[in-house]
Amino acid sequence: MRIIITGASSGLGEALALHYATNENRLVLIARREDRLATVAQRCRDRGSEVETIVADVNDFERMRVIGNYLGEQPIDRIILNAGVSVGHGGGVTPFEDFHRVFKTNFLSVHALLEPIIPKLIEQRFGEIVFISSLASLFSMPTSIAYSSSKRALNAYAEGLHYQLKPYGITIMTIMPGFIDSEMTQKNRFKMPFLLSTDKGIERITHAIERKKIRYAFPFRFSLMIRILTLLPQPLRDKIVHFLNFKKGA
Ligand SMILES: NC(=O)c1ccc[n+]([C@@H]2O[C@H](COP(=O)([O-])OP(=O)(O)OC[C@H]3O[C@@H](n4cnc5c(N)ncnc54)[C@H](OP(=O)(O)O)[C@@H]3O)[C@@H](O)[C@H]2O)c1
Repeated sequence: MRIIITGASSGLGEALALHYATNENRLVLIARREDRLATVAQRCRDRGSEVETIVADVNDFERMRVIGNYLGEQPIDRIILNAGVSVGHGGGVTPFEDFHRVFKTNFLSVHALLEPIIPKLIEQRFGEIVFISSLASLFSMPTSIAYSSSKRALNAYAEGLHYQLKPYGITIMTIMPGFIDSEMTQKNRFKMPFLLSTDKGIERITHAIERKKIRYAFPFRFSLMIRILTLLPQPLRDKIVHFLNFKKGA
């Protein structure tokens, strides 16, 4: 399989690259940190995979379109849109610059890269697009408005794409993880409920991909709690969010 992974220099992207690093797969790994990407690529090659690295900032949209065109020159079996950032979980109004960066990285960059790829997938009549969203897309806390909004936008994008591309045999998957150990979560200064190790998180994600799950939210208990929360009457929701925020120290 030819598998493309964005944000492959650390965390989930790195672990996904290593998971798919077998002699049956050809990997294309994308991220900004050249040294980190080279290390991940070498570890994948040691496992028998052919690996190409592309050092790029996904926020450089013109470059993303060029890369998308280049990637589409050969058949693509799976593309995992994983690159993402979060901004602090403090209180106060999110500065516009942070909001802009989060939206560009987590959402807009995705279409900059996919715009030239989608027609190629339609032509080849197979392929999978996997979006790494978040449980935060299902419920927006006052301390993560930019992040939740960007991931919810990603869900909407994936939903539309599913209906658009299903007739051509293309599978769109949206994975919504809870907290998983990574550089991103290591910055969090609050207790993260149901925190999973990277290995456990990757096991769930790759299992969902193999089963071609269109939408997959996990861990189950955390995702169930969030779903129930969204169904409660607003005054009760307000009280619960106020309490959770208080516990977070925000
Ligand atoms: N960990 C969790 O609990 C969790 C939960 C739900 C969803 N997610 C999502 O999972 C994805 C991976 O996050 P992670 O937890 O693995 O965090 P991470 O270790 O910080 O990894 C983020 C990856 O994205 C890349 N990236 C960030 N900005 C980029 C940019 N402008 N251009 C190119 N690459 C960029 C980083 O590479 P460079 O810095 O080298 O560019 C890095 O490889 C994100 O989309 C995140 O929102 C994570």
